[in-house]
Amino acid sequence: MFFKQLATKEASLSYFFGCAGQGKAVAVDVVAGDEDWFIAEAERAQVRITQVIDTHVHADHYSGGRERARRTGAPHCLHESDRGRAKYDFLPLRDGQVFEVGNVQVRVLHTPGHTPDSVCLLVTDLRRGEAPWFVITGDTLFVGAIGRPDLAGREREMAGVLYDSLHAKLLNLPDEIESTPAIRPAASAAPASRANRPRRSASRNAGIRHWRWTRPPLSMR
Ligand SMILES: [Fe+2]
Repeated sequence: MFFKQLATKEASLSYFFGCAGQGKAVAVDVVAGDEDWFIAEAERAQVRITQVIDTHVHADHYSGGRERARRTGAPHCLHESDRGRAKYDFLPLRDGQVFEVGNVQVRVLHTPGHTPDSVCLLVTDLRRGEAPWFVITGDTLFVGAIGRPDLAGREREMAGVLYDSLHAKLLNLPDEIESTPAIRPAASAAPASRANRPRRSASRNAGIRHWRWTRPPLSMR
């Protein structure tokens, strides 16, 4: 299995992963203008992109997922709750759905709160074993922070929804699973924002373990 992270000009993080052995890959949270990077990486790895996924409809950048999907013929995937909201065709994802990309397994976790359609992707390298390796958390869970629930103007309601998503879907995952967020700090960001620096390595600060062991329980105040 290969895994690549792209730090975009929009201060977000995109992901490209898949199974080189069977020549299949997934592109996640592609930013408009970055489509060529994914095409080049796919050619380098000699893989075909089989899904283009947005973890949610983004408020902070234009998604390149639709264009990326059009250029590759791969379906553009969003959570099924975007039916009627998105003005274009997409392949709906549902909570608990599992699909395989060669020897890589992807489980969809619907984690509303930041947005109603937010999903996380729990990824397992089946050649390593049956235990998941990492979870792509979109804007739901960062390293040291959580996504804003106030963007749609229903902050109290959405904060509660986000609380439930974090506790029911993400904090129940095994400690050793690494979390891979969709946001990185701007180069000029204050030091406090360094918590969101991408750390998809073995750092325990980047794992679900970090939240359970080093953070007090999230509470509604
Ligand atoms: Fe977002």
